[in-house]
Amino acid sequence: MSGDLAAGARAALAGRLAGAGVLEAGWRGAFEAVARHLFLPPVYWEFVDGSAVRRDRGTDPQEWLAGAYRNTAAITQWDDGDEAGGQQDFTSSLSMPTMVARMLADLAVEDGHRVREVGTGPGFNAALLAHRLGAEKVVSVEIDEAVAGLARKNLAAAGLDGVQVVTGDGADPALGPSGPADRLIATCSTLLSDVPLGWVEQSAPGGVIVAPAATLFGGGATARLQVAADGRCANGRFTGAADFMRMRQQRYQAPPVDAYLPGQWPGDAKASLTGLDPEDIGSSWLAQFAVGAALPDVYYRRAPYGDTVTWWFFDTAVTSWATVDSVPGRGEFEVRQSGPRRLWEEIRTAHDTWDKAGRPGYERFGLTVSTAGTRTVWLDHPDHPWDPTTP
Ligand SMILES: C[S@@+](CC[C@H](N)C(=O)[O-])C[C@H]1O[C@@H](n2cnc3c(N)ncnc32)[C@H](O)[C@@H]1O
Repeated sequence: MSGDLAAGARAALAGRLAGAGVLEAGWRGAFEAVARHLFLPPVYWEFVDGSAVRRDRGTDPQEWLAGAYRNTAAITQWDDGDEAGGQQDFTSSLSMPTMVARMLADLAVEDGHRVREVGTGPGFNAALLAHRLGAEKVVSVEIDEAVAGLARKNLAAAGLDGVQVVTGDGADPALGPSGPADRLIATCSTLLSDVPLGWVEQSAPGGVIVAPAATLFGGGATARLQVAADGRCANGRFTGAADFMRMRQQRYQAPPVDAYLPGQWPGDAKASLTGLDPEDIGSSWLAQFAVGAALPDVYYRRAPYGDTVTWWFFDTAVTSWATVDSVPGRGEFEVRQSGPRRLWEEIRTAHDTWDKAGRPGYERFGLTVSTAGTRTVWLDHPDHPWDPTTP
């Protein structure tokens, strides 16, 4: 594809994003000017309908290029670059353009703003910021040394080598240039219960932090927080669903099941019945978010066999577990619970409280992060913490 054709593809993508109402007018010029294909390696995996489709410039240059201008994420690294890892987890990518446009709109940049990005990846988002604000205004932190190196090369190829790409952990406020940022954007997700305090510390009073925040249980959303005038806390609402790869240091390695249940299932577990099908929670990203925000130390695994799906629930302290068998067409489901906590009762209470509140969407939830070390999820108002154990 010649330069002119690539310019046409960029304009077409920008037009589609604008037509869908996700691209703010102020960002259209950057999307039209920055060539997304310059941020793609010779082989990447386009994320299409939940599957990773290999795009190889050597064997199919047209599809390789076309994928750069579709509204899809492109996986650019697996397993932290471990080639023997068997492509289990994707660990770096070019984010989906819709998501990039939405988060940049949330960021509400103004001329002269200094922006810090956490999670450079291949560098496309940093390039958009640099095009809009000037490369010298953008610092981007990437934890993976090889990814950071490629981002520097990509930015240079796009004529934006003034962007400072720093290798290290973007949670660390001491990294990179001194002086607070007016805007901070993370493109890797943080656990709600572990939002880096450094993000507040490295932001200017009145500054804005935009970050995907997820729960261990599942479900995640973009948080848009404003830093208070005294710089001691940041507060704001979620703006919509977001599914990003987790910050590297926050990945959770679950213990083996026999750490919870050394013998045969059901062991000493108490049996009961429930009217709530766990599939109703598992099939809704929003329901998972509402439950997970209330129970930050609980996670699940889904084990299908035949028509039945056994849902396993665990706490991270490795004290308690529960199972619920979801059988299609049934109105009641068998529950087993073991340990000092009744995990399924806790999950059901959180779910039912959310249900009775009218199934509030992400925009009704908010988050307050204090440099004293607290992270509080709230519903409708900061004075109303989301704590479904006290309705
Ligand atoms: C989805 S990619 C970033 C997308 C990118 N900004 C773009 O322009 O499309 C997420 C990146 O975050 C990086 N990352 C993960 N944990 C990090 C951390 N603690 N600090 C900085 N970068 C991190 C990963 O290595 C990965 O490259």
